[in-house]
Formats: sequence, C-alpha cells, structure tokens
Amino acid sequence: MSSGSQPIKITFRPGFTVARSLRSLEKALEEIQARELRLALVPTMGYLHEGHLSLVDVARQHADVVALSIFVNPLQFGEGEDLDRYPRDMERDVKLAMERGVGLVFAPPREEMYPGGEPVVTVDPGSLATRLCGQYRPGHFHGVVTVVAKLFGLLRPQVAVFGRKDYQQAVLIRRMVQDLNLPVEIQVGPLVREPDGLAMSSRNAYLSAQERAQAVGLHQALKAADAAFRQGEGRPEQLLDRARAVLDAHPLLRPQYLELVDPETLEPLEEAREGSVLAVAAHCGSTRLIDNLILGAARSEGGEG
Ligand code: PAJ
Repeated sequence: MSSGSQPIKITFRPGFTVARSLRSLEKALEEIQARELRLALVPTMGYLHEGHLSLVDVARQHADVVALSIFVNPLQFGEGEDLDRYPRDMERDVKLAMERGVGLVFAPPREEMYPGGEPVVTVDPGSLATRLCGQYRPGHFHGVVTVVAKLFGLLRPQVAVFGRKDYQQAVLIRRMVQDLNLPVEIQVGPLVREPDGLAMSSRNAYLSAQERAQAVGLHQALKAADAAFRQGEGRPEQLLDRARAVLDAHPLLRPQYLELVDPETLEPLEEAREGSVLAVAAHCGSTRLIDNLILGAARSEGGEG
C-alpha cells in the first residue's frame, strides 16, 4: 500500500504514538496495559472529517486513551469499487487525530494486516448483511466484520465507537459482539452533517460542484418523509413516496434503494413507528452515497443528527 511508506512530518505531542506495524502497536499497548488504562478504539479508513473526529469525542468520554485505526480494508471493496482511488492523506489524518486527543494511531500497511493475502478464516455476517447495502455490495459486510474482529483482536479495546452514518454496519458490529461474546462495549455516535444537511463522508471528495449541489437531495428526501410522519402519516408507501418525489427532483441522483426498516432486524416495515429507520443509497455521478434518518428523532433529540 503506497501510504505505508509516506513520511509523516509533524511534531509529536508527548504520549502520542503512530504505530505502522504490529510490533510497534504491541509496544504501545504494553504501556497502556501496564498503566491499566481503559482503551477505546475508533476504526476508520482515514481521510478524516468531522464525522470521524466526533467519534473520538465520544470515545474520550468512555476511556482513558483513544486509539484510532486508519486502514483502507481491501476485503470490504468489491470488484469495480473505489479501492484504488479511495482518498488518502496520512499526514493530515495524523495531525487531526493528535489535535483531537487521540493517543495512538494504528495505520498498518496491507501486508501487516493480511500477511498471507486474504485470510482463510473469516467472520460470516449472516442474514443482516443481505439487507439494504448488502443487496448491492455482496461481500462488503463480510469484509467489514472480519477486519473489525481483527482490529479488536489486535488492540483489545474495552470500548469501540462507530458512527450512525453507516447504520447497517453499526447494527452488524453490535450483533457480532453479542453473538460471538467479544469482550468489547460498542458505542454508536451521531451522524454528522455538512451545514446544508449532506452527511459527511470521505467519498464526498469525489463529487463535482454540480453533483455536490444535488447530493443534499438525499437528506432532503429523508426529511420530507420524516415531516409527513410527524404530521401523522404512518403508511410506509406514503412516506417513501414523499421521499421519492424529492429524489426525483434531483436528476443527478440515481437511487439504489430507499427503505423504511426495523432498527434492529433491518426488515421492511408494514407500519412506521417512532424509531423506525429510513435508509437510502444512491449514485451521484460515479460516487455512491448513503444516508439514513431515525423517524421522529427530530422531536426527541432536538434536531436530527
Ligand atoms: P469509514 O468510512 O472511514 O468510517 C469510520 C467510522 O466513521 C465509521 O464508524 C463510520 O460510521 C463513521 N462515520 C463516517 N462518516 C460519519 C458521519 N458523517 N457522522 C458520523 N460518523 C461517521 O466505516 C468504515 O470506515 C469501515 O467500514 C471500518 C469500520 C473502518 C472497517 O474497515
């Protein structure tokens, strides 16, 4: 991986470590364990933005030391997806992480994570992985839960923090931890948006100015359905129609799915309830974007995150 050999030109804060190998990771962990510090992990693929950094804030509330991993995991990218062009800026990421209070950055090259190529024994994410994004990205969640399980094994954190932006991912990881009795507590942080409502994503960097202007249609569509729900509409098809009308008004958006699902099983609902999840995926140009909204959350949370 090319970023593996990138020099990092920043002045380090005392107690801040960047581990690029399993050996240097073990050394950093020895110190944390010797001091009996509680460790939180924020797994990322880098090109950090405020969404990622907000998870560091959550992690700091639950632990003494926050580790942030940066690894563009080849196992979760399908044929023809953006593995090779996924944005990377290790130097900037390390600086942002350090400034936000991360104590340990783990940024291994591919050979450190997968020394023998693809792993032989992996984690099967089961039927939850066939829903929503899983219908269009076969193998994706298999790669996600496998790398997250490896990261848990390598860092042995007491807490791990994921974002609600990737709703299905967070559900699957909670479920993996529950079903495999992994000794880690999972926290899910709120979804962070740009001022106009577009969900922050490293992939937003791919959008042209025209596409960027229309990408916000995803959030607007979800909000239109939520507004109807708050006015008393409970029929899923009616709510989805409201959202579809907004998507249709954005010709650069090509929706993949728009579904109203149960927050835990991710199965489509017969009736909308407070707490039901509206999830959408669409291509905007060649960029695939996802977004979600929890119905009724605007009331209880004082603003949908
Ligand atoms: P990545 O897309 O880099 O996201 C890392 C973490 O940041 C995930 O938990 C994701 O949900 C969260 N995140 C991204 N955008 C966010 C936003 N706008 N608001 C709140 N949280 C946000 O998700 C992955 O990487 C990978 O699949 C990974 C879990 C690291 C496994 O490879």
